[in-house]
Amino acid sequence: MCGIIGYIGRDDAVDLVVEGLRHLEYRGYDSAGVAFPTDSGIEVRRCKGKIKDLEAIVYVDKPVANVAIGHTRWATHGVPSEYNAHPHSSDNIVLVHNGIIENYLDLKKELIERGYRFTSETDTEVLCHLIDRYSRDYTFEEAVMMALKDVRGAYAILVLSARDPQKIIGVRKDSPLVLGIGEGEFFLASDVPAFHARTGRVIFLENNDMVILSPEGYKLMDLNGNSIEREIEFIPPMAAGADKGGYKHYMLKEIHEQPRALSDTLRGRIFPERGEVNLSEFGLDEGMLRGVDRIFIGACGTSWHAALAGKYMIEQIARVPVEVDLASEFRYRRPLIGDKDLFIAITQSGETADTLAAQREAKRRGALTLSICNALGATSAREADAVFYTHSGPEIGVASTKAFTSQLFSLYLFSLIMARIGGRLEEQDAVAMIAELLRVPDKIEKIISNEDAIVAVAKELFKAKDFLYLGRGILHPIALEGALKLKEISYIHAEGYPAGEMKHGPIALIDEDVPVVFLVQRGVLKEKVLSNISEVKARGGKAVVVMSDSLLGEVRQADYTIGIPETNPYLEAVLMAVPLQLLAYHIGVLRGCDVDQPRNLAKSVTVE
Ligand code: AGP
Repeated sequence: MCGIIGYIGRDDAVDLVVEGLRHLEYRGYDSAGVAFPTDSGIEVRRCKGKIKDLEAIVYVDKPVANVAIGHTRWATHGVPSEYNAHPHSSDNIVLVHNGIIENYLDLKKELIERGYRFTSETDTEVLCHLIDRYSRDYTFEEAVMMALKDVRGAYAILVLSARDPQKIIGVRKDSPLVLGIGEGEFFLASDVPAFHARTGRVIFLENNDMVILSPEGYKLMDLNGNSIEREIEFIPPMAAGADKGGYKHYMLKEIHEQPRALSDTLRGRIFPERGEVNLSEFGLDEGMLRGVDRIFIGACGTSWHAALAGKYMIEQIARVPVEVDLASEFRYRRPLIGDKDLFIAITQSGETADTLAAQREAKRRGALTLSICNALGATSAREADAVFYTHSGPEIGVASTKAFTSQLFSLYLFSLIMARIGGRLEEQDAVAMIAELLRVPDKIEKIISNEDAIVAVAKELFKAKDFLYLGRGILHPIALEGALKLKEISYIHAEGYPAGEMKHGPIALIDEDVPVVFLVQRGVLKEKVLSNISEVKARGGKAVVVMSDSLLGEVRQADYTIGIPETNPYLEAVLMAVPLQLLAYHIGVLRGCDVDQPRNLAKSVTVE
């Protein structure tokens, strides 16, 4: 879950690498470093902390080099520190790594017996010494290939050699690595934004691809030294999004961007007048879907919450059975999935290791695979049989917000598709459901315009140590999401629960110090949740009630109420998410937390 970048060309490599690391900081930000050739060998500068701390040590008698590699870290092996930071070096080899070397302890033992001295606790240093060991008898390229034959695990690496300073070798297996092809300059990075300001011509490296960069160009080969061809793709300039646009934090900006992001999710995807969804935008056709008996959805974190809400939408609107799994569980439970089933992977980054593994497992068992993804050209999208891009725009804040509501929109669209194909939805009903969808962005604008009321609630509750979030039906996953946002952003312990479960345990937690956030919807469940509120009030708890404006008059015992505009029961899940995002954000800010880069987290979890 680190970010790596390398540059070779005519320009100031260290500058470009540090700039690239700024764009990769969402992947990890506990330590960072760069390396570049000098007349006396490869120089490494690294430190504990963020890119701004690295800049402090890089821009002292700044080096001039046309080749450099860099790394921003999310620690897996060894505490965040200067000595565990990348780049790691061994005699004439220096490298940066994103991933995990699973058999590093065995290799380490062998290397120590060969006289290598270790200065870090990392798995990466093992690979560095291993390449160095082989480089004594083989060429730079051969040494890298030999070493990788000995290791097991996931890696994207960039390697420099003091004997071959005008070269960068990059290899990818399971962790993402993209080649950027500029005018007489070349980049290798974990993600396109790291160099997108310089070029949109990219090659997404496949597993076991090796690339050798030199000022003259790039060579692609497999790990046996055979030349390979890869298609050059063009990534159009990204929607403006990489800067904060005047907001204090990316998270707040991305919450406020949701009306536009959701409009972009719908652009070119619906025919409102016919109540139809443009199936080709999902990369699917009716034939493929008619044969689907069951749908499985696999995901992690916030995307898993979208999957749970998606189950309600698809089963209730299209009456097709849906099984939802945490991807980290699905991949190991020998799932009963086969060629009559569809597996949907939901993933903002498209690089989450567990979700990729679940998608591959489903494919291996014969299922049709669909990726609902936000990052253009990400691994999940490229490996799936079909992909639906959510088009939320770049999401920089580690806590997912606009990507979540776009995922809910995508699942709503998919429900309509399955319902129309299954003859479960008349045209006029479909027209009405799409018309309501088109009204949601304005309704979110209305919620955002009422932000002060949410700030007022945050000011009352930001000192709490525990929170409970309760919802029923499709609002249970939204309660889970509200709790996750608060945990991620404010480090307050929070739990989401189906409200009906409260009496079976969580009610023991209730006292005047535990705010309980209730998500109340119209319909059969309303009364049930209103009585849950009374039960909490009877035990001295504080009740925060989020519900549609028209129902506000019916809540007598709430300590705080947050109203949202009316909509249908499925899209209420989208509207309800927004005040919960804002509540978590403002409580995080009031507690002085780094809301864009919360401790211990990273935007994309690329290792298991
Ligand atoms: C959400 O705020 C977190 N960043 C995290 O739970 C995230 O949803 C999870 O890691 C899945 O990421 P993905 O959607 O990129 O696969």
